[in-house]
Amino acid sequence: MNILILGSGGREHALAWAVMQNPKCDRLIVAPGNAGIAMIADCAVLDIMDGGAVVEFAQENAISFVIVGPEAPLAVGVSDRLRAAGVLVFGPSEAAAQLEASKRFTKEICAASGAATADYGHFTDAAAAKAYIAAQGAPIVVKADGLAAGKGVIVAMDEKSALAAVDDMFSGAFGGAGAEVVIEEYMDGEEASFFVLCDGENVLPIGTAQDHKRAFDGDTGPNTGGMGAYSPAPVLTDEIAAKTLETIVKPTMSEMAKRGMPYQGVLYVGLMIKDGVPRLIEYNVRFGDPECQVLMMRLGAQVLDLLLAASEGRLDTARVNWADDHAISVVMAANGYPGAYEKGSVIGGLETLPETSTSMCFHAGTAVRDGKITAIGGRVLNITARGPSLGEARNRAYEMIEKVDWPEGFNRKDIGWRAL
Ligand code: AMP
Ligand code: GLY
Repeated sequence: MNILILGSGGREHALAWAVMQNPKCDRLIVAPGNAGIAMIADCAVLDIMDGGAVVEFAQENAISFVIVGPEAPLAVGVSDRLRAAGVLVFGPSEAAAQLEASKRFTKEICAASGAATADYGHFTDAAAAKAYIAAQGAPIVVKADGLAAGKGVIVAMDEKSALAAVDDMFSGAFGGAGAEVVIEEYMDGEEASFFVLCDGENVLPIGTAQDHKRAFDGDTGPNTGGMGAYSPAPVLTDEIAAKTLETIVKPTMSEMAKRGMPYQGVLYVGLMIKDGVPRLIEYNVRFGDPECQVLMMRLGAQVLDLLLAASEGRLDTARVNWADDHAISVVMAANGYPGAYEKGSVIGGLETLPETSTSMCFHAGTAVRDGKITAIGGRVLNITARGPSLGEARNRAYEMIEKVDWPEGFNRKDIGWRAL
């Protein structure tokens, strides 16, 4: 079959790498893709936010399956347009994508279904929000309602910073995303992510991961999109995974179906775990980046069969073949990221890296300029490795990093430290 993947990051490179290995894949196109993806698949120029253009492209290229990588096209209904045109697609509808696009929506679904999460209030004006903060006290968490590229969450350890966050949000610091705010109970514990495929009715867990959001070693420095990840997450034991399915995921899925917006795609369940009890921090309606890279490394070619089963409503009979292994992904980012950084530096040494089922350099923000691999984004490479233990996977990844010649980039030296 001909397959189209939408997106251009390390997540999409990893998806492409896994999908390509499945004999069902005849031709793979990734739009828009990047320099690394172009080495294994065809890349196409396409506005992935334009549902009409995506449908037309799919029809012209005889595409029989579309995998949507990022949340933005899902939030504007690109998957609905494809489905309406009769194209099989992996990714939730615009209505179901509200589980990521609106925090208020998610809190309402949790309240209606009894899914375990933090208590909250929802506000459209600053005075009421501040009164709630005064009544609840700190620590407390202030969140912009809409998509804010992971930046719209302020964990306020004192009341003063919570009040300041409310002022920032209502004065437009997060654009339209902050026109409504959700204020949440502060949850203590250890964070982990759980990835579950959903077909509208059935659910199938496909792995766990933990990421490192802070820019620098020791989990210090500013928040980023993620500087590295590893899978499995030791804190997310089988028992906690089972509890998460029963007390969070299944109630949410039933409520979505009841409301006429069945959820189909991958559900990224962000959890806070304390004393053996998981509670929901947030849902994302797509794979995490770089969490996807470690999941793909562990799952390999079977991913295509699993995504097809989710899209065709067949998850009740789908099975995951688990290997008892570990994967890690270390992000190499441009100096300055997540603040201002330069684009256009040349990356050397990539041709010396192994490309095997246990070692891959996934590209995120790269392009070919004058025949050379060039950094064009903040997060640029995802050095990903697998091994029988997390330590071995880590050593393999850091050995690869030694071979990358890129003085304009940096990476954390301690990915996986909590689990190691
Ligand atoms: P989110 O974008 O909702 O994942 O939030 C970003 C980060 O803020 C999370 O990864 C948590 O570290 C933290 N966070 C969000 N909500 C809470 C909460 N209710 N209690 C404690 N920490 C939170
Ligand atoms: N790595 C966090 C995310 O993809 O949202």
